Amino acid sequence: MSEGGYVLQARGVGVRFGGVRALAGVDLGVRAGEVCGLIGPNGAGKTTLFDVLSGIRRPDRGRMLLDGADITRRSAVWRARHGIRRTFQRQQLFGQLSVADNVLVAQEWRGGGGGPAADLLALPSRRALERERRARGERVLADCGIGALGASYAGGLPVGQARMVEVARAVADPPRVLLLDEPASGMSAPERDRLAEVVRLLAEREGCAVLLVEHNVAFVMELCTRVVVLDLGKVLAEGTAAAVRANPLVREAYLGTT
Ligand SMILES: Nc1ncnc2c1ncn2[C@@H]1O[C@H](COP(=O)(O)OP(=O)(O)O)[C@@H](O)[C@H]1O
Ligand SMILES: [Mg+2]
Repeated sequence: MSEGGYVLQARGVGVRFGGVRALAGVDLGVRAGEVCGLIGPNGAGKTTLFDVLSGIRRPDRGRMLLDGADITRRSAVWRARHGIRRTFQRQQLFGQLSVADNVLVAQEWRGGGGGPAADLLALPSRRALERERRARGERVLADCGIGALGASYAGGLPVGQARMVEVARAVADPPRVLLLDEPASGMSAPERDRLAEVVRLLAEREGCAVLLVEHNVAFVMELCTRVVVLDLGKVLAEGTAAAVRANPLVREAYLGTT
């Protein structure tokens, strides 16, 4: 375990796009079992920070730590395999696949057991494993309130359901760290409630560390035990939901405008 008890931590992260400083020295950590909200106005750098944490973008400056060990140079694939999972602000489902297969794919990186030969020959061990994974996928979809959608094509779903499939896919193989980028946008109120329940259980029961970007402030305040406010690529404030909501700087930069 790292200093501060953080599972995943960013230290002094800087990212520049030409003349734009998207991130200007961000320090942020997330602990096992907590749901940490990340809020801030459009363009604050939230998605860029997720890109850096998940390894799809190299920062110009700064380091990332997983359990206190430096992972700055580790690839996105390495990080995903070590339990850092994310969803994207812009939907990224496999539209041509069924919902069940989208969730199955997320478990396939562990391999088939028995190697390619077992796959080719469809050995009983391979088939048993696939059954197990399909069953797990069904449970996850049911938990997410979309248990009836397994056979539907992901590409044809309304946005709220599609977003839920993305969440299901991100948690099908239990994550250690989950980064959710505006997962509730486009969701109905009941879908949002279900999402909150899934995220809460994941943190409380499985000890997953969750970092949640969301514009719906009421949703963030209800679900998150801690909130970090990003503005112009910097951490503007951090604290309990109530403390952050009461912070005049935050009101001015963000809350007052929503
Ligand atoms: N690929 C990119 N190329 C150039 N500028 C970018 C790119 N991605 C983000 N930015 C800029 O970086 C800043 C932060 O963006 P972003 O991380 O998407 O913010 P947020 O998710 O908080 O809305 C914005 O000014 C945005 O225009
Ligand atoms: Mg964003």
